[in-house]
Amino acid sequence: MLTDSFDRRFSYLRLSVTEVCNFRCDYCLPDGTDCGAEARAQDLTLDEIRRLVAAFAKLGTRKVRITGGEPSLRKDLVDIIRICKATPGIETVALTTNGYRLAKDIDAWHEAGLDALNVSIDSLDHAKFELITGHNKLQQILQGLARAAELGINNIKVNAVLMKHYNDDAMDDFFDFVKARPITLRLIELMRTGDNEAFFNRHHLSGQAIINQLKANHWQERLPGTHAGPAREFWHPDYSGGIGLIMPYSKDFCNTCNRLRVSSQGALFLCLFVDQHQSLRHLLQSDDSQPVMDFLQQAIKGKTISHNLHQQNPGSTRQLAMIGG
Ligand code: 5AD
Ligand code: SF4
Repeated sequence: MLTDSFDRRFSYLRLSVTEVCNFRCDYCLPDGTDCGAEARAQDLTLDEIRRLVAAFAKLGTRKVRITGGEPSLRKDLVDIIRICKATPGIETVALTTNGYRLAKDIDAWHEAGLDALNVSIDSLDHAKFELITGHNKLQQILQGLARAAELGINNIKVNAVLMKHYNDDAMDDFFDFVKARPITLRLIELMRTGDNEAFFNRHHLSGQAIINQLKANHWQERLPGTHAGPAREFWHPDYSGGIGLIMPYSKDFCNTCNRLRVSSQGALFLCLFVDQHQSLRHLLQSDDSQPVMDFLQQAIKGKTISHNLHQQNPGSTRQLAMIGG
């Protein structure tokens, strides 16, 4: 099992398969993707992904989340899902997507073995959705979500980044959204990255205000499981779905860290916001897992206790499309 010097255990890999994204979310890539064909050509190959996931699984990884950029821009996403699912030890294959191809592709992803799905929807208002992402796609994305539920994918989450002036006045719409749908709404505090300082200063909002609102409306907080990860989860007897808050600025957020990240070009990120990236791609050129496992066991010892976001220091992370959040 991968364990760091603070006794945190890592059973969850977030694997970015491309940095490229076709959306222009204001807090992430307001001018569109900042990498092109050259970066895409350097994305991990299917063989490299297979070897990487196999090595992680041998060290106790049980869940792989495929992220981007936008992972569905890879034409071989179905193969990536299938490879992850076929890896001995991997129990859950999850995908985070902006939903652009969801309605078209969800059947194929499901057939390939997808167990869990996160879709980013920062506003349930069509005009605001377009304002934030640059795409008038909300309707289609909602259809894709409905299809995912119909297929029986029972772990579906909607990610919404909390933003003053954009969606802070629309929490009731979001709560209503999970009333009859067995979907978890993940409200994520806007994080400061290298590129979004001005936007962050204007729009950042603490999740605490939402927690107060939830408690006032009789939502109850779930006790975290042993290896639950950093979200705070809430439930309500009258609601089919749940609500989770990701509050990276809250005290002790990093204590429950259970995840490691690998970039689309094969660099291990020990933390989203700490400059400890080391490429392991050269070790993915043969089927021998041992050198990759040795590398990971050595690297994990260098993981720091926390990020430095409180000091306004996002490390070298320019935006989260680089590494998939
Ligand atoms: N702060 C918070 N969340 C972000 N995401 C992307 N950039 C940021 C940021 N700066 C979210 C995306 C997606 C998830 C992977 O991370 O909206 O839902
Ligand atoms: Fe693309 Fe996600 Fe960044 Fe939006 S947040 S631009 S969907 S990578």
